[in-house]
Amino acid sequence: MKITVPDLAASDLAARCQQLLTAEPGPAGRNKIAALLSELLTDPSNVNALIPANTGERDLLYRDPELGFCIFAHRYHGAKESLPHDHGPSWAIYAQARGETEMTDYEWATPDSEEIPGKVKPTRTYRLQPGDAHVYNEGDLHAPVRTGPTSLIRIEGTDMSKIKRRRYETI
Ligand SMILES: [Fe+2]
Repeated sequence: MKITVPDLAASDLAARCQQLLTAEPGPAGRNKIAALLSELLTDPSNVNALIPANTGERDLLYRDPELGFCIFAHRYHGAKESLPHDHGPSWAIYAQARGETEMTDYEWATPDSEEIPGKVKPTRTYRLQPGDAHVYNEGDLHAPVRTGPTSLIRIEGTDMSKIKRRRYETI
């Protein structure tokens, strides 16, 4: 396989995440990864290596075979927003690389049940600018809004593609 600069940048990041999470698997290790991403993404050469021009909306850069965490690169060419959500039994780190994300945190007003979607309400809104990285621990509800082009690195504690999401309505 041809080794390219993005591969090297992603594998270096993966190795450092692996070390930090092995030493501290809980929120402390995640906070250290967020600090690492903040530092990395303030340097445009790292941004260009991790999220080059041909990056798609959701590219998996790395999945750890042992710890299960996944590193994604996202590049949105226009506005992009998501409804409030948590990451189920997983945690996630959002690290802004280009452009700006307006993030709103939510809390459960009425928890969901098997039959009825729950209700969630906003608690605070803040901006993620290049170099800002934020940890969302298990169950932390959030909704990103992006009004212009953006790039980000996102790390999930586990592969979420096979996990059922909770249901809710906003109030
Ligand atoms: Fe999320």
